[in-house]
Amino acid sequence: MFPTIRPRRLRRTAALRALVREVRLDPADFVLPLFFSETLAEPRPVGTMPGVDQLPVSHAANIAREALAAGLGGVILFGLPKEKDARGEAACDPNGPVPQAVRRMKDAAPDLVVMTDTCVDEYTDHGHCGVLTQDRRGVMVVDNDATLDVLARSALEQAKAGADIVAPSYMMDGRVGVIRRTLDAEGFTDVAILSYAVKYASAFYGPFREAADCAPKFGDRTGYQMDPGNAREALRELALDEAEGADMVMVKPALPYLDILARVREQTNLPLAAYNVSGEYAMIKAAAKAGMLDEKRATLEALLSIKRAGADFILTYHALDAAQWLD
Ligand code: PBG
Repeated sequence: MFPTIRPRRLRRTAALRALVREVRLDPADFVLPLFFSETLAEPRPVGTMPGVDQLPVSHAANIAREALAAGLGGVILFGLPKEKDARGEAACDPNGPVPQAVRRMKDAAPDLVVMTDTCVDEYTDHGHCGVLTQDRRGVMVVDNDATLDVLARSALEQAKAGADIVAPSYMMDGRVGVIRRTLDAEGFTDVAILSYAVKYASAFYGPFREAADCAPKFGDRTGYQMDPGNAREALRELALDEAEGADMVMVKPALPYLDILARVREQTNLPLAAYNVSGEYAMIKAAAKAGMLDEKRATLEALLSIKRAGADFILTYHALDAAQWLD
């Protein structure tokens, strides 16, 4: 082959490299996660995630206009309620922080795609993603079927407020089907479901738990989120959520699970999302701050790798910065 065949010929100039580039990033690839608090009057910086704030609901309209102007694919909303209880009932409050923020965002920027994270861990006083019960050995666990009811009612309130897409993130069995039936029975047949179909029990959610005030008060999430050692199980979760009527599916986290993303991509024709989670974000921010790497290049390379692995869009705290850098 050599010296006849020389791949470097196509790397010689920027124009040649652009001509043969296989994957490109676009601001529309990015979905910005936002944290809305019911109690704050001013934005409150999240210490573990430099550049990310918890926001008062009164800021919803402005950030919606900003996201739309930046050309983002959408936003996804998390809520910090005034009060928490054992069941997370505040997640079903039609005037909770998320429904309020959705209404303000859709009023201010009707063309912005607004998604809502559907989970109760921000709303429960114990920080778990559902209603607790004792198992046969007396150990506290999350009751799958009891949790489905709270979450379906929460998704319904998010739909009523105007969410385009609800995104159940709590890894209870049967969640997609129950939410689909609930939404359809109430006339919300046009609200789509983005399922966190493949969500691992990951250390990379650490910084988020300060942002969303949802660290479990005891134990961990390994009884409901997936084991990091499992890849075939990801395909099983995918198949179940497809059968239950998911419109889109997600793999989470992203960077430590690019192999999973690529395998899921091969198995599904549904739009595929990846969540570039808080720990992935915090690592780049910390390394950049310490002068260890170039933030802009590292961020865009990380996002590109997620798209190259198969994601159609990426939930990322870098969304506004990355959109600006691509401009
Ligand atoms: C649960 C939820 C979590 C994240 C998104 N939704 C935390 C968890 O499962 O513990 C993590 C997102 C991130 O780390 O950026 N509602």
